[in-house]
Amino acid sequence: MTSRRTLLKAAWGTVATGAVATPAWAADAGPIRIGLILPMTGQSASTGKQIDAAVKLWIAQNGDKVAGRKVEVILKDDAAVPDTTKRLAQELIVNDKVTVLAGFGITPCALSVAPLATQSKTPEVVMAAATSSITQASPFIVRSSFTLPQVTVAIADWAAKNKIKKVVTLVADYGPGFDAEKFFDSQFRLDGGQILDKLRTPLKSPDFAPVLQKVSDAKPDALFVFLPSGQGAAFMKQFAERGLDKSGIRLIATGDVTDDDQLNDMGDVALGVVNSHHYSAAHPSALNKKFVDAFQAANKFRPNFMAVGGYDGMRIIYKALEATKGEGGEKLLEAMKGQVFESPRGPVLIDAQTRDIVQDVYIRKVERVPAMGNQLYNVEFDVIKAVKDPGKSK
Ligand code: DHB
Repeated sequence: MTSRRTLLKAAWGTVATGAVATPAWAADAGPIRIGLILPMTGQSASTGKQIDAAVKLWIAQNGDKVAGRKVEVILKDDAAVPDTTKRLAQELIVNDKVTVLAGFGITPCALSVAPLATQSKTPEVVMAAATSSITQASPFIVRSSFTLPQVTVAIADWAAKNKIKKVVTLVADYGPGFDAEKFFDSQFRLDGGQILDKLRTPLKSPDFAPVLQKVSDAKPDALFVFLPSGQGAAFMKQFAERGLDKSGIRLIATGDVTDDDQLNDMGDVALGVVNSHHYSAAHPSALNKKFVDAFQAANKFRPNFMAVGGYDGMRIIYKALEATKGEGGEKLLEAMKGQVFESPRGPVLIDAQTRDIVQDVYIRKVERVPAMGNQLYNVEFDVIKAVKDPGKSK
């Protein structure tokens, strides 16, 4: 015979189970938590340093409250190891009940969290990683950085129109490198150019000597390079040490190589390098000047494209939380889609269909700028407006 007490217990059990199943964002009206996973140590640490500083700047300028609730950023260091990223994301979702996951310094780390984002319906804001396919790995991924196809087509086009007929490509041997290699190759050949060789270097601790020897032997008009943020200075040093800067072989690149984080320390070897990207610290807008001044005052270093990805990612998160009054899950994801705003990089849109960022891509040349302390900057001289990621093929 079932006693009244047992029935009550059973009923209470149901309620309790219901409470556990309640999505994290609705559990209480306490703080809204953002789980920020970045490489703060290891080879990609400059990416973590830049994005962490940008997130802190955003909060200093915009406050730590949204929709009447306090915002708490929980920063975790994954050292750019995907298994660690995944474990940290799981802990942030289950234990810390975060409303949003953000950060993700390199592609494999962003991808490792995609299934968790989908299962838990937690928006994953990718602030750094830039392989085209990332946003297709989960419907809960939104990107505030860029894609390699998006920035690479422009430099291939520029090269073909500027007397460069034969090119060797050199890319890091993983996702974004494959994207850069493929999209440089197809656009440059479409424009009538010829690819003499396609070289790749390992993501971890690359030695550029063997590939630079091959470049030297192939004697192309130009070498096109994509390397992830943080490797540009080491590459430039070896390029100069082997005399390639004086060999008549032009260096062209994506802006990852002439990264504002390291550019000023590269020295004269970087002068004249033409490259394409979505952000330069020297971008001549009032909003960017304000951003760079505030960032440098707070940090004593220059913001790079990673910092802007972090800053804009926070904007996307804050505006979406305002719209949902702090609610997470699918509603928050929907409120991230279609946002249009002026970023320090220029006008941007979060494409509602792809959840990827649409933005202007600039052709820049590395110059010493007297008006900016005689430091090295990527000086924009041409722009392709509102570029969508050309890498999406359905
Ligand atoms: C990626 C990382 C970078 O540092 C970069 O500049 C571009 C892409 C990535 O892993 O996706």
